[in-house]
Amino acid sequence: MSDHTQNNHAQKNIVFFSGENIPLEMHKARMVQRLTLHPVERRLEIINQAGNNTFLLPNRDVFLDMLTDSGVNAMSEAQYAAMLMADDSYAGSETFYRLEKTVQDFFGLKYFLPAHQGRACENILATALIRPGKTVVTNYHFTTTKSHITRQGGQVLEAVAEDALNPVSQNPFKGNFDLALLDRQVAQVGPENVAFVRIEAGTNLIGGQPISLGNMREVSAYCKSKKLLLVFDASLLADNLYFIKTRETACAEKPLPTIVREIASLMDIIYFSGRKLGCARGGGIAIAKKAHYLQMRDLVPLFEGFLTYGGMSVREMEAMAVGIRETLDFHVISQTPIFVEALGKELQAKGVPVVTPLGGLGCHVDAGRFIPQVPQIQYPAGSLAAAIYLISGVRGMERGTMSEQREEDGSERLSPVELVRLAVPKRVFTLSQIKYVADRLGWLYKNRDLVGGLEFVDEPKTLRFFLGRLKPVGDWQERLAKAFKKDMPSGL
Ligand code: F0G
Repeated sequence: MSDHTQNNHAQKNIVFFSGENIPLEMHKARMVQRLTLHPVERRLEIINQAGNNTFLLPNRDVFLDMLTDSGVNAMSEAQYAAMLMADDSYAGSETFYRLEKTVQDFFGLKYFLPAHQGRACENILATALIRPGKTVVTNYHFTTTKSHITRQGGQVLEAVAEDALNPVSQNPFKGNFDLALLDRQVAQVGPENVAFVRIEAGTNLIGGQPISLGNMREVSAYCKSKKLLLVFDASLLADNLYFIKTRETACAEKPLPTIVREIASLMDIIYFSGRKLGCARGGGIAIAKKAHYLQMRDLVPLFEGFLTYGGMSVREMEAMAVGIRETLDFHVISQTPIFVEALGKELQAKGVPVVTPLGGLGCHVDAGRFIPQVPQIQYPAGSLAAAIYLISGVRGMERGTMSEQREEDGSERLSPVELVRLAVPKRVFTLSQIKYVADRLGWLYKNRDLVGGLEFVDEPKTLRFFLGRLKPVGDWQERLAKAFKKDMPSGL
C-alpha cells in the first residue's frame, strides 16, 4: 500500500469519539509565517487607502488572507524537494519533459503546452479559436475567461441549471449543465458559430460548485453528436474530484486516477491554472488531437516563452508536476472542502447567510441576504468585503456586480449573485483561525444594519474589480468601527 493510499484510509475512517465533526489534518506544519493584526482604527485607515478594494490591500496589513487559493496553497515537502532538482535551460529543459510526462500520465492526453498561468492558457485558446461572431457556451463563465473571449470578438452564453444561481439549494452539483438549455443556445446561434463548449470544474463564480461526472458524460455525448469542440477548465479540479468522490454514488468506489482519466477522455482540450491545480504557480494546456495542438503551439513562444518553459520558472514547473501527482491523494483534495464545511457550519450556526451546499474554493457569504439594505448599484459584495476587513483584518474577495463589466451603454450589469468569497487555501489555516473568522462575521451580522454601500472614484474599463478604487457612501465605516470598539475595547 502506498503512503497516499494509507492516508486515504486514515482520513476517511477516523471519527471523534465525542461525535464532533471537525477536520483532522493528516499533515503537520514545518514552516510558518508571522502574522500581524492591526487595531480597528488602523484598519479603517488602511481599507480607505486601498480604495475599499481588498485586491489593493498590502498583505502586511492583512491578518488572514482569504482573498484566493491561487498560488497560496501550502506546498508539500516533496514539492520543495523537487524544486532543487530543476533543470534550468531555455530550450529542452529536463524539467519540462518531466512536467509534460506528468500531465500526459495524469490526463491521458497526448499533447501538452506550457503557459505561465490559467489566463495565459485562455489567451492562447481564445486567440487560436475565437473569431468575431463566435460563441462559447459554458456552464458558468469565469472573469478572465470571458474577457479573453470577448476581447477576440466572441460572446459567452451560460447553460447552468437555474438552481445554480440560487444561493440556497440542496443540489449537490450546482455546476451541472442544463442539457436542454445548452441545446437551445447552440440552436439559437447555430452549431457552426459555436467555437467551443466550455466546462468549468468547481464553478468558481457561483460558489465553488462542482459538476458531476455523469453530467460531463452527457455534455460530451451532446458535443460529439453536434461535432462541437469540448474544452475543460480544470483549474478547480481538485475540489471537484472530492465532491465527485463523496457526492456521486456511482463514483464512491472508483479510484481517483480512474475518475481523472475518465473525465479527460471526454474532452478535446483541457487547460488549468497551476496556481490552483498542482499547488504551485504556472499553467498548461493538455490536448487530445495534433491538429488542435498545432493550432495553438506557435502562440506559446509568442506570448509566453519558449515551448519548454512557457513563461514559468523551472522550479515552479517541478513543484507543479509533483503537485499534480498529489492531486490523486484524497487527503490533499479534501483539505479545502472540509475546511470550507467547518467554516460554513460555524457561520450558519450564527445565522450568517452562506451559499449552500457548501462547496470548494472557499466559503461564500451571501451579501444579498446579509445586507439587503445596500442596493446592487452600490456593490453590496464589495461593501461587505470592506466591512469584513474593517472588523477583523480578514481579506475576502468581492464576487458580485463589481466583478461584472458595464454594458456598452455604460449601465451596470447586475450580477445574479452578490457574494463575498472567503477562500480557504489548502493546509494554510488552523481551526482556531477559522473559528476567529466565524466569530467576527457573527459580530458583523449582529451589527449588519450599520453597513452601507460603496461608489467608484476610479473605475478601470476592463476587469475593474482588480484595480478599481471606491469610497463609502456616507460615514457608515466610522460608525461600524465605533460599534466594534465598544464591544472589543482593545480594537483587536
Ligand atoms: N479558470 C478558473 C476557474 C479560475 O478560477 C481561474 C483563476 C482562472 C481560470 C485563471 O487562472 O489566475 O492562473 O490566471 N482564479 C483565481 C481566483 C484568480 O482567485 O479564483 P490564473
